[in-house]
Amino acid sequence: MKTLRYLQKKKENMEPIVMLTAYDFPSASLAEDASVDIILVGDSLGMVVLGYESTIRVTVADMVHHARAVKRGAENTLIVVDMPYLTYHGSIEQTVETARYMMQETGAHALKLEGGQDICPQIETLVKGGVPIIGHLGLTPQSVGVLGGFRIQGKTADQAAQLLDDAKALERAGVSAIVIECVPAEVASDLTKALNIPVIGIGAGAETDGQVLVYHDVLNYSPAKAPSFAKVYDQSYVRMKTALTHFAEEVRTRAFPDASHSFAMTDDELKKWRSR
Ligand code: KIV
Repeated sequence: MKTLRYLQKKKENMEPIVMLTAYDFPSASLAEDASVDIILVGDSLGMVVLGYESTIRVTVADMVHHARAVKRGAENTLIVVDMPYLTYHGSIEQTVETARYMMQETGAHALKLEGGQDICPQIETLVKGGVPIIGHLGLTPQSVGVLGGFRIQGKTADQAAQLLDDAKALERAGVSAIVIECVPAEVASDLTKALNIPVIGIGAGAETDGQVLVYHDVLNYSPAKAPSFAKVYDQSYVRMKTALTHFAEEVRTRAFPDASHSFAMTDDELKKWRSR
């Protein structure tokens, strides 16, 4: 089993860390078989699995349900689960109770929280309590309303400085790694150099300690277009649609099922049955 310490070693040895999202048993099995280092049960499941427009409507129950399936599909991979929208901004007690529930119910190895200095008190308490935490900065989809849409962050010198301050605050608060999403490559690179913990990028250029992508984007397993920063390695939606159309055609033309997909009685039993 790869541990969070293993990720730290990878940073020290300058070996890229591979992170991929997964949301259910088959996607988790595939990710594990492909030897990714970390599986993220992202709340992006709200968009790519549940068909919502953003991650805002994803609940703790949704996350637990999907994370349990992922755990069954990838027993030997490090699993990180997102805490959903507004589940860590209330009281520390409420945050701790939700984190306890998510860790115990899912068997996750770590939780991921979006935000910077504002959520450091919660992070410090969770880490002291023994919950490994991954931070998430840059484009933080749970704040899409406040950010004014899914747009690149840290484009000005002031915004970049704010990102760096937030990243250092998260490191001091005890996070094990940080995901940085949709920021200029230069900013992500400088931030990666400034931190001792691993920085994993998405839409953040090539100079972070690792890369994370969404399963459905990598495979193009969606009716929607993948974002421009995601490299598409397969056209599974088109291939699957062709297969399913073929199935529908064969049912309609009675080409399916044939004898090889049917069960038969023995001749003796058939004779008895028909003579009744
Ligand atoms: O929810 C998610 O899938 C994520 C990744 C985009 C990093 O947070």
